[in-house]
Amino acid sequence: MSESHAPTSGAMEGSNAKRGLWSSRLTFILAATGSAVGLGNIWKFPYITGENGGGAFVLVYLLCIAAIGLPIMMAEVLIGRRGGRSPVNSLREIASYDRLNPAWRMVGAVGVLAGFLILSFYSVIGGWAVSYVGTAASGQLTGQSAEAVSAIFSDLLADPMTLLMWHTLFMALVMLVVAKGVRAGLERAVSILMPALFLLLLTVVGYAMTTGEFGRAVTFLFQPDFSKLTTSGVLIALGHAFFTLSLGMAVMMAYGSYLPKNISIAKTSIAVCLIDTCVALLAGLAIFPIVFANGLEPGAGPGLIFQTLPLAFGQMPMGSLFGTLFFLLLIFAAWTSGISLLEPIVEWLEEQKGMNRTVSTLGAGFVCWALGIASILSLNLWADFTPLGSIDMLEGKTIFDLLDFFTANILLPLGGLLVAVFAGWVMSREAIEKELALSEPMFRLWYITVRFITPVAVGAVFVYNLFGA
Ligand code: TRP
Repeated sequence: MSESHAPTSGAMEGSNAKRGLWSSRLTFILAATGSAVGLGNIWKFPYITGENGGGAFVLVYLLCIAAIGLPIMMAEVLIGRRGGRSPVNSLREIASYDRLNPAWRMVGAVGVLAGFLILSFYSVIGGWAVSYVGTAASGQLTGQSAEAVSAIFSDLLADPMTLLMWHTLFMALVMLVVAKGVRAGLERAVSILMPALFLLLLTVVGYAMTTGEFGRAVTFLFQPDFSKLTTSGVLIALGHAFFTLSLGMAVMMAYGSYLPKNISIAKTSIAVCLIDTCVALLAGLAIFPIVFANGLEPGAGPGLIFQTLPLAFGQMPMGSLFGTLFFLLLIFAAWTSGISLLEPIVEWLEEQKGMNRTVSTLGAGFVCWALGIASILSLNLWADFTPLGSIDMLEGKTIFDLLDFFTANILLPLGGLLVAVFAGWVMSREAIEKELALSEPMFRLWYITVRFITPVAVGAVFVYNLFGA
């Protein structure tokens, strides 16, 4: 893919031909995988699985990926390819083709808001990964006890200035790429660095097998115990399916607009979902044996990977090297995801507000960075500040927790719901059939899913959580 084919190169008005297409299906898969695979898989999935009791939660999560995430990803890609423009304009374009309400532009606005909020805390966690490169490289982890490793992590969280420094660095990395509008090199790097991350995860899984608790971890992850599943757990699993697949924010819509017409939307989406899920499950298999072998708490929260993986790197041969590489690759994965969070905002500012790319990147990046400071402070100075704590389900949630909850569990499913309704009820069926080019039974299955199953499932989970239990 040449530079001018990159999705960031001023995706404005014009036909597909003018904007250039992905050179191949692989390029799309690389870009979409770069966005999907990130902290969601390696940091968030294991810790929310631990907090929600394991097996039953994982099962619901996998169901959400297959029955809701995949169909919505297909819907996003399909809308993007059909519209052939940036998300907001694609929706407007399709809406007027099919003579419908231009209010669908709102989907873009929901996406922009979600992007701001997610990136603000995403960058803080990205900063943790940056910090751990140094921790691993300096050999500090070698032979450490679980207590010492936990202390390294709590020291980091207790220090707002250090957190701010790494958060700033991470944000700068993201802004640099978005400002330049060059993705080509990065996408090529995905094809080398993602498999490398995969291999390193496998290495840690290999180590985890030697801890003697691998069987217990497998049981924990894959043997459902429904007594541990709560309604809020179901909402979290649903929200995470959107988060981990980068759905609900029109990112896949933007990427879809560059997908050549002759490439199967279903097959490419399945590939992205499979890769994403494998990385998450591998992360779980790497982490939980270490949790059990060291008597740690599965529900330890957002610090889980930083309290477990360093133990593995401290004990395995060449652990400092593997650890350094692992955190470098984790930064890379988070970086490509971070870019896909900022990119839609910048594109939106360019298109809707007529700002140039540099100015909009600086402006949007600054707002995310500043908002990130609230998340940093809620790890230390504001740790006891729970602004909406009087609401039952938000009890004990810091600003950081609230941002995470509101985006992943409310905004993204809402965005996904709008996409499903748009594809299922607004677009013409003929247009969709042509884009998807599925066999009749498969098309039916997909169509019923986006028209009925997704809206009902997302709606039911919402209603249940807000008014039930
Ligand atoms: N999917 C990424 C992860 O798992 C996060 C992410 C990147 C994202 N872009 C997104 C989430 C867009 C929602 C929407 O880490």
